[in-house]
Amino acid sequence: MKTIRWKDGVVITVDQTLLPHRLVHLKLRTPNQIAKAIKNMKIRGAPLLGAAAALALAQTVYKSKAKSRASLLKELQKTAVLIKTTRPTAVNLFNSVDAVLKMAEEHPCSLKELRRYLIKKCLELIAEDAKVNRALSLHGAELIDTGDTVLTHCNAGELATVEYGTALGVIAAAHRRGKNIRVIATETRPLLQGARLTAYELKRKRIPFALITDNMVGYLMAQGIIDKVLVGADRILMSGHVINKIGTYTIAVLAKEHGIPFYVAAPTTTIDSENSVEEVVIEERNPKEVLELGGLRIAPKGIKTFNPAFDITPPHLVSALITEKGVIEVKPPKIRALLDASDGR
Ligand code: MRU
Repeated sequence: MKTIRWKDGVVITVDQTLLPHRLVHLKLRTPNQIAKAIKNMKIRGAPLLGAAAALALAQTVYKSKAKSRASLLKELQKTAVLIKTTRPTAVNLFNSVDAVLKMAEEHPCSLKELRRYLIKKCLELIAEDAKVNRALSLHGAELIDTGDTVLTHCNAGELATVEYGTALGVIAAAHRRGKNIRVIATETRPLLQGARLTAYELKRKRIPFALITDNMVGYLMAQGIIDKVLVGADRILMSGHVINKIGTYTIAVLAKEHGIPFYVAAPTTTIDSENSVEEVVIEERNPKEVLELGGLRIAPKGIKTFNPAFDITPPHLVSALITEKGVIEVKPPKIRALLDASDGR
């Protein structure tokens, strides 16, 4: 299943807020519509945000009436700002925008040629996401043994990427290879990406699984029910810190306490080669998401909340990082070597 597509300047993607009840495809015709869909969580998941960002820039080029390279570049800069101010944490979005802008600035050619070149490059970025996720899924499947019960958090599946998924991609690859595995999916409050999206994907793929609420993880680990943890990432720092959906850090601490391997699966486009932990912006979302469940208020009026959408897991809690280039230890020199080996960034 491809989560996002480009057809003659229109971006076609799944409205993830309506799943699992309705599978509705959105037709987004402008960068503004894409930005709005990202803000409203209709498009979400780090690699998919990177893909949507590239397609917003492709749309800008496709629709541009610019008469010079300079004015096309100005229009691209405007879209870049629009997209970069949608959500602050998933680095794929920023990496994608910067990669396209760099290509636009550095490709010496006529305006006509530049337009053709940029649209082609943006579509290649999308195709590349599917390719790298497939590759990392196959590497990760080696770490899963038949009989394993694997816990995953949030949604790191096809819906969070162009195709295949990351953590769920690994699980699906192990299942396809005939490994007899079982998955535990956390519901992932407050927006329930686990209950709504991961459960939807696992059910469609007929992978045996059970859904739990987030606060059940420790008990299940203590009972010896969980063999491995596999999650995705929104940003991986050169220091090895992993930024992912809120609750990931809690699960990593619990995994350490119970001696359970904790794996992070992510393409190298999720690596942030520039920022330190202190510089990362953790998105703080609307208090309503905590105060309500399914649009229904569940707490008294006039109370305070916290609603950080992501947390930070330090490298000593991560057993290994699964990427399209292979499985590595989460150590700064290994991450640096991985980036140096990856082309283009
Ligand atoms: O707020 P979301 O739904 O965009 O958060 C998504 C996650 O945290 C995923 O785990 C992460 O993007 C990895 S997706 C392959």
